[in-house]
Amino acid sequence: MSDALNYLLEVRKNAMGPYFEFMKEGGKHLDRKTRSLLSVITKVDSQTEAGFKQYLKRALQAGNQADEILDAMLVCMPTLGLSKIIWAIDIIQKMELSEFKPENLGKKKQWIKLTPLDELNEGISCLGYDNRFCYINKREQEICIYDNQCPHQATDIPVSALNETVLTCPKHNWKFDLETGDCIEVGDRPLNQIRFKLENNYLYIYN
Ligand code: FES
Repeated sequence: MSDALNYLLEVRKNAMGPYFEFMKEGGKHLDRKTRSLLSVITKVDSQTEAGFKQYLKRALQAGNQADEILDAMLVCMPTLGLSKIIWAIDIIQKMELSEFKPENLGKKKQWIKLTPLDELNEGISCLGYDNRFCYINKREQEICIYDNQCPHQATDIPVSALNETVLTCPKHNWKFDLETGDCIEVGDRPLNQIRFKLENNYLYIYN
């Protein structure tokens, strides 16, 4: 939320409260992915650059693929118009988001059998699949899996870049904490999480 909205909420709570309640209620039947896609579209429509960048990152973090975001904009072309979409694409290109690079678009994801669950170590580990690898953080019953590709420019971050729980991308030194996936130094985007499921005592990832 912007500083201005925070300010109004503080100094005009009674007036602004119902507005936020309305916003919350209005989207309660939508899942997080869909809501974040719609927010992106509203920012393209209003052409607010800071808001667009913020909601674009949020839409990716909510699990949207770059292809889905592009499709959502194109589907809304009748109301947005081509010039607003071009405005948005210019910003996306300047942001250098790895997900939007042409070579990373159009990839079909699938469930990949990664490892038997009882062979998964406690703490941080790194496992390979299909000429790639991912980082896994297992703490008792909780599992988080992160893509090894840097969210900045899709550099493969090697195991040698791991120091305890901190992973440092060799290209521009963004640092990530594998406890949370957050970028803790230099950059501003977290590692991409990989969806997973447990089936018949096996860990599968969707990538
Ligand atoms: S590619 Fe720039 S920090 Fe990783």
